[in-house]
Amino acid sequence: MVREARLQDSKAIAEIIVETWKYAYTGIVDKDYVDNLNVQSFIQIMMRNLQQKKETIFVYEEDETIKGFISGKLLKKDNYQCEIVGFYVLPEFQQAGIGKILFQHINKYFSERNCHKMILWTLKGAKNNSFYEKNGGVISHEKLLKIGEKEYAGVGYSFNLHSITGQ
Ligand SMILES: CC(C)(COP(=O)(O)OP(=O)(O)OC[C@H]1O[C@@H](n2cnc3c(N)ncnc32)[C@H](O)[C@@H]1OP(=O)(O)O)[C@@H](O)C(=O)NCCC(=O)NCCS
Repeated sequence: MVREARLQDSKAIAEIIVETWKYAYTGIVDKDYVDNLNVQSFIQIMMRNLQQKKETIFVYEEDETIKGFISGKLLKKDNYQCEIVGFYVLPEFQQAGIGKILFQHINKYFSERNCHKMILWTLKGAKNNSFYEKNGGVISHEKLLKIGEKEYAGVGYSFNLHSITGQ
């Protein structure tokens, strides 16, 4: 089931970020950086995020386990009215449709708030990028993304929300 995240979910979300990063970005991002990702610091970030409502966060929960989450925010820009900021499914539960359910959920949430175009930034060459292309995303921008002390090639996928949600 998909539900909005609560403050108590901060630890589970932080663990998902660290575990999924190791799986998704090893070989792209510096090994040292990935090996030293720290759950505690992500717990603090997610707690602040939830307390200050910086983003809207939805979790996918099943069998009392949070298996993935998606987060996003509204933008005050002409081209894009919303952005997906975080989107992670634990590696052991990937390829089972959870990502699609979360993605459709946030798309509907944004569509209902008058968003037509959405952007998602990710690292160029990451192994799961095919997901975005299969779900209507088109690479529309490239820029360097700073991670730790280094910069990496990033790509911005744009999505036309009405064509995804069928509205
Ligand atoms: C991107 C991500 C969230 C997708 O989550 P997911 O749960 O694996 O997504 P789904 O299961 O809905 O779809 C993934 C693939 O499984 C396939 N699939 C879905 N249900 C399936 C099933 N029952 N059996 C077999 N395959 C299935 C889909 O067709 C899809 O194929 P594709 O990758 O070739 O497009 C996940 O891969 C992830 O966490 N990636 C790393 C983090 C990341 O890159 N985040 C983005 C930057 S914020």
